[in-house]
Amino acid sequence: MHQAQFQRHPVRRANTACANPVLLAPSMMCADPCHLERELRRLEHLKVDWLHFDLMDAHFVPNMPLGLEVLRALRPKTALPFDVHLMVENSDFFVRELAKIGVQAITVHAEACPRLEQTLRRIRGLGIRAGVALKPATPLNTLEGLLELVDYILLMTVNPGFAGQALLPGAIRKLADCRAWLDRSGTRIRIEVDGNVSFKHIPHMVAAGADILVLGSSSLFHKPGSLRENMARVRKGIAAGGRQRLITKAQP
Ligand code: DX5
Ligand code: ZN
Repeated sequence: MHQAQFQRHPVRRANTACANPVLLAPSMMCADPCHLERELRRLEHLKVDWLHFDLMDAHFVPNMPLGLEVLRALRPKTALPFDVHLMVENSDFFVRELAKIGVQAITVHAEACPRLEQTLRRIRGLGIRAGVALKPATPLNTLEGLLELVDYILLMTVNPGFAGQALLPGAIRKLADCRAWLDRSGTRIRIEVDGNVSFKHIPHMVAAGADILVLGSSSLFHKPGSLRENMARVRKGIAAGGRQRLITKAQP
C-alpha cells in the first residue's frame, strides 16, 4: 500500500558525500489533537514525505499520546506513508495490529525486543519496512549483525516519551558515528533522527548524516510560527546542513 509514495525523494543534501535525500516526517503527536484530519491536509500541502506516529503504552515510556484507533481512522484519509515508532513493551502485538491497519513502516526499540531479529523478520514478512530505534544511551553495536534486516535506524536524540525536550549531549556525535559505520558497511540504510530536531540543530544533523527528520514541537509545530513559515525554516536548515559535512571521522 502506497509504496510508490514511500520512495519519494524531494529534498536532497547538496555537495555531500552521501547521496541520500533528506525526508521529512512530521510527528503527529505534536499536531493539534482536536483537528488531526485538518492537520493532515495542511501537511499534504507542505509536501511532507511521511507521517510519523509515536505509539506509546505507558510502560516502556510513561506516556500515551496516540492509540491504534487514531491510526485506523486516519489511514484511509491520506496517501502519505505512515511511519510508526513503537515505544511499547509488547512490540509483536502492535506489529500485528499495525499490519491490519496498513502502515508502511514500523520501528521497534531494540531495548524492548527480546527477539529483535525475529521481530524485524516478521515486520518485513508482512511487507512493511522495518526500522530499529535506539535510546540515546544504547550503543550502535547493539545492531551488529542485524543490518541486513533493517531499512532504517532511528536514533533518539532525547529520551523517548515526550516532545519538547533538550537535545542530549553526544547525540550528534553518535549520529555521525552511525553514518560513518553505515557508509563503511556499504548499506543503503537510512538514519532517522527523533527528538529536538530543531531549527538550530537541523543543519548539524543533516551535515552529520541524518536522512529522515522527525519534525515536532521544536521545528514544524513550533509556536507561534505557522506550519508554512516553519517549513520554510526547516528547508533552509537542510540546505545549510547540505553545504557542510562537518563530522566524518568516527568509531563504529
Ligand atoms: C519523542 C517523540 C518525538 C517528538 C519530537 O519521544 O518521539 O516525535 O515529538 O518533537 P520535539 O521537536 O518536540 O522534540
Ligand atoms: Zn518518534
